[in-house]
Amino acid sequence: MTQRRFAKTTGIAATLGAIIAVPFMGWAQNQETQPAIAALEANLTDERALFNATVDATVDDDLLELGQLVAMGGAENGGSGMACITCHGANGTGDGSGAFPRLAGQAGWYTYKQLVDYASGARPNQVMSGIAQRLTEREMEAVAAYYAAIDAPYRPIPGEADVSLLQWGGQLGAVGSAEKGIPACVNCHGPSGMGNPPSVPYLAGQYANYMTYQLQLWREGGRDNDAMNVMSAIASKMTDEDMRAVSEYYARVRPVVDVVETVPASIDTPEITE
Ligand code: HEC
Ligand code: HEC
Repeated sequence: MTQRRFAKTTGIAATLGAIIAVPFMGWAQNQETQPAIAALEANLTDERALFNATVDATVDDDLLELGQLVAMGGAENGGSGMACITCHGANGTGDGSGAFPRLAGQAGWYTYKQLVDYASGARPNQVMSGIAQRLTEREMEAVAAYYAAIDAPYRPIPGEADVSLLQWGGQLGAVGSAEKGIPACVNCHGPSGMGNPPSVPYLAGQYANYMTYQLQLWREGGRDNDAMNVMSAIASKMTDEDMRAVSEYYARVRPVVDVVETVPASIDTPEITE
């Protein structure tokens, strides 16, 4: 946990400033490259990669290797039938359309739970339920840990959004709406929606179309896997416009990594002689 990923930014103005400054940061890297296991190992101590105590899995490079195999369509037993990377991308960033959620850097236990829920039908989905049913318990853990350990760049945001819509979204995120009875998303999803591992996913950098669709599913009862109905209760108070606003807002928020000040080793600090 050397580099803290979670922003200390609070306040809409500060966050909107960050959004405008860095919307297309980082997408210069190769989109098709499968990350090397050795590079991912460094992230195993990050809280994103640590499982909830209910999962008895040692998160190590063996698990990451199996996770990569599953992501590529291979498996220990049987097989998922479909390589995850076909839809979710080699580095877990999907194709940018928002049809496929971003998985890179997502809380591992959250991802694992979604696979369990797709398989059981608590989160029914035509595509994912069949895929998840073919995975073993260990394969679910492995592929979840694998995606949790990936630090991937962000794809450019498709389309533009109205500034007043983004402001309303930012307000819902940071303080909610007392009038409508909507709590602030940051209460659970962490500062700037960076997530709160192991169980609360990040919203920052997730695709707007995907998030809007999930909120609608909760409101309409199509997704029913949130403990104590927290998200369905919230979604039931939101209009389509509210959902769109908060989703477009979070799609533009980027994790703010604390700047670590480093002095290059090759430069000697001159001695001060007086
Ligand atoms: C044919 C395309 C396709 C393939 C292949 C695929 N997915 Fe998905 N995945 C989707 C779609 C579409 C959704 C959104 C479904 C929904 O609305 O719940 C999704 C959603 C998910 C989610 C939910 C993410 C979240 O933020 O809640 C997880 C986790 C996931 N997929 C993991 C996987 C894994 C692991 C594999 C490989 C074993 C895989 N997917 C293969 C299309 C695919
Ligand atoms: C009381 C805590 C709490 C609050 C407040 C909250 N959430 Fe959530 N949210 C959760 C939990 C827990 C989950 C994961 C549910 C699950 O296990 O599938 C979640 C999941 C989500 C997801 C699904 C993400 C994905 O990758 O599929 C979206 C979208 C979401 N929340 C949006 C919001 C928005 C927008 C707000 C503010 C208006 C909000 N949440 C407020 C607890 C909360």
